[in-house]
Amino acid sequence: MRAIRGATTVASDCADEIKSAVKELLDEIFTVNNLRLDEVVCIMLSNTSDINSYYPAKAAREAGYARFPLYSSLEPEIEGSLARCIRVMILCERSKAVKHVYLREAKSLRKDLTKVLNIAIDGPAGSGKSTISRIIAEKLGILYLDTGAMYRAIALKCVRNNADYADKDAVRHLVNDIDIKVDYRDGRQITLLDGEDVSEQIRTPQVSLLASYVSAYSFVRTKMVELQREIASKFSCVLDGRDIGTNVLPDCEFKFYLTAAPDVRAKRRHLENLSKGVEQSYEEVLKEIEERDFHDKNRAVAPLKKAVDATEVDTSDMSIDEVASLLLSKIEEKI
Ligand code: DC
Repeated sequence: MRAIRGATTVASDCADEIKSAVKELLDEIFTVNNLRLDEVVCIMLSNTSDINSYYPAKAAREAGYARFPLYSSLEPEIEGSLARCIRVMILCERSKAVKHVYLREAKSLRKDLTKVLNIAIDGPAGSGKSTISRIIAEKLGILYLDTGAMYRAIALKCVRNNADYADKDAVRHLVNDIDIKVDYRDGRQITLLDGEDVSEQIRTPQVSLLASYVSAYSFVRTKMVELQREIASKFSCVLDGRDIGTNVLPDCEFKFYLTAAPDVRAKRRHLENLSKGVEQSYEEVLKEIEERDFHDKNRAVAPLKKAVDATEVDTSDMSIDEVASLLLSKIEEKI
C-alpha cells in the first residue's frame, strides 16, 4: 500500500473554483502515477478554514472519483499557513514508488518534489551502472541518460572517418561539427550521430576502448557535459557515467558510486557480449576492462573517481535486485 500526497490552492472561496482545482489536482495525480481507479483504497481531502463554499470531497465525486470512500476535513487555523489550500492523500494498492503532486501556490510547500530530480550513478565499466540506472529510472518513472553512449558516438565517428584517436587535431576537427542527440523510443534511449541511430553500432569492443581514449580530450568533454547538463536541467533523470557526481552535476542530491572487482566485471561483460554474439574471449574482455579503468581513472580532465558525497556500493557479491533495492531505498528515504 502507498500514500500519494498532493495539494493545490484556489484564488477565491468560490464553488466553481474549488471544483476545478480539485479535478485538476486529482487528474494530475492519476495521470503522473498512471493510477487506475481500482487501485485506490480511499481519498482523504482537507482544506484550510478560509474555504467554506464547497466540500472538496463532493468536488472529487463529481469529477468522477467516486468508486471508493471519500472524506473531507477542515484544517485548524494556523498562523502563517498557505491561504485557501486544499490537500489530498490517496491510499492505493501498489508497491512501486509514487509521485506526489503540488500545484499552483502549493508548489511552494514541496520545493523538493516540484523541482527536477537527478540521480548520478558513476563507476567503472561492468560495475552494473547501466542495468541499475535503467531499473531505477523505470521504477521512479523518469528518464535514463546513458552518458557513455555520447562518448561512444564520438569514438564511432573517429572509426568511420579513419581518424587516429591520438591525433588531437583530427579528433577536434571531427568533434567541431558533430551532431549528437539522444532521444527516447518506448522508454529506451536512442543515440543519434549526425541524425543516424547508432545505438547498436556503438556497442562493439573497438568502440568501447576508443571511447575511453577520446573522452580524455577536454574539448570532447566540454561539449558532452554541456549537453548532459542541458538534459538534466529539463528532465528528471538517472545519469550514469564516470564524472556525473564529481563534474557534470556536482550539486546533485543523489550520488552513487558502484564498484566491483575487475574479474567480476569482466565476467559480466563477457556474458553480456556472448548474449549479443560479440566474439571476445574472457581474457580479452578483462584486459580491455583494465585498460579502460586505467585511462578513465588517470586522465587529466574529470577522471573516474568517487565524489566525496557519493554512496559507494561494491556490487561484486550482490544481485541486480539487491543493488537496485538498496539504491531505491536510499533515494526514497529523501523524496
Ligand atoms: O559507460 P560506458 O562503458 O558506455 O563508457 C564508455 C567510455 O566513455 C568510458 O570508458 C569512459 C567514457 N565516459 C566518460 O569519460 N564519462 C562519462 N560520463 C561516461 C563515459
